[in-house]
Amino acid sequence: MRLDQVCLDIEGKQVINQLSLETNVRRLGVIGRNGSGKSTLSRLLSGLIDTTSGQLEIAGFNPFKDRRAALREVGLLFQNPDHQIIFPTVLEELTFGLRQLGQDKTDAKKNALEMLSAFGKEHWQDVHCSALSHGQKHLVCLMSIVAMKPNLIILDEPFAGLDIPTKRQLQRYLDTFSGSLIHISHDPDDLQNYDQLLWLEAGQVAALGDSNEIMPRYLAAMYELGESDDISDLSR
Ligand SMILES: Nc1ncnc2c1ncn2[C@@H]1O[C@H](COP(=O)(O)OP(=O)(O)O)[C@@H](O)[C@H]1O
Ligand SMILES: [Mg+2]
Repeated sequence: MRLDQVCLDIEGKQVINQLSLETNVRRLGVIGRNGSGKSTLSRLLSGLIDTTSGQLEIAGFNPFKDRRAALREVGLLFQNPDHQIIFPTVLEELTFGLRQLGQDKTDAKKNALEMLSAFGKEHWQDVHCSALSHGQKHLVCLMSIVAMKPNLIILDEPFAGLDIPTKRQLQRYLDTFSGSLIHISHDPDDLQNYDQLLWLEAGQVAALGDSNEIMPRYLAAMYELGESDDISDLSR
């Protein structure tokens, strides 16, 4: 992916500020404080929102301008599953994404059921999403995305609210995923074995590079901030 001087203003505020970067690694971790623009970047990269200015390209296309390509290539797991789920039951939710890709009703349902079965969750098919826990909803969203077989999955704090077995199950799946991952997380353990880290600060690149070099620097800076009493930055 390549970003060149990307800016995004929301309600007069520069949420993404002249962001330029280029990377093609298969495993990219994204770190940064609350409000640094991580979720906004994930929405830009999956084409849900457009830039205010600048150039953005992922796998050779602009995901906002080419929605069909974006739908096929990029899957975004939202930070909040309630913002992602739109159908009453689990099976309907999974089937919807596949229908959007152009599969007919029979194929979409068959593939959705296969996905549930791959995660050992066939018994969830008629369960109402609203009856699931936060972590279980996250799993439904991930299964919906995986079923669509994207080449890139963007994960926005995917493990928040998951119990340990579910988290391990997802982690195991992600480890075997042959496509690319962009993974936003506050937990250094989640990003072990990632090729590169992108550290965002106030909508700008604070650092981009080798994980082994960036993570210790990031943690040192965060612990230092944590030692101070001033959390006023949170409201910036
Ligand atoms: N739809 C929106 N309306 C107003 N402000 C927003 C909106 N989306 C994001 N922001 C602001 O943009 C900044 C970055 O938000 P976000 O990308 O969610 O940060 P992060 O995911 O790193 O915590 C925050 O200050 C947030 O308040
Ligand atoms: Mg966020």
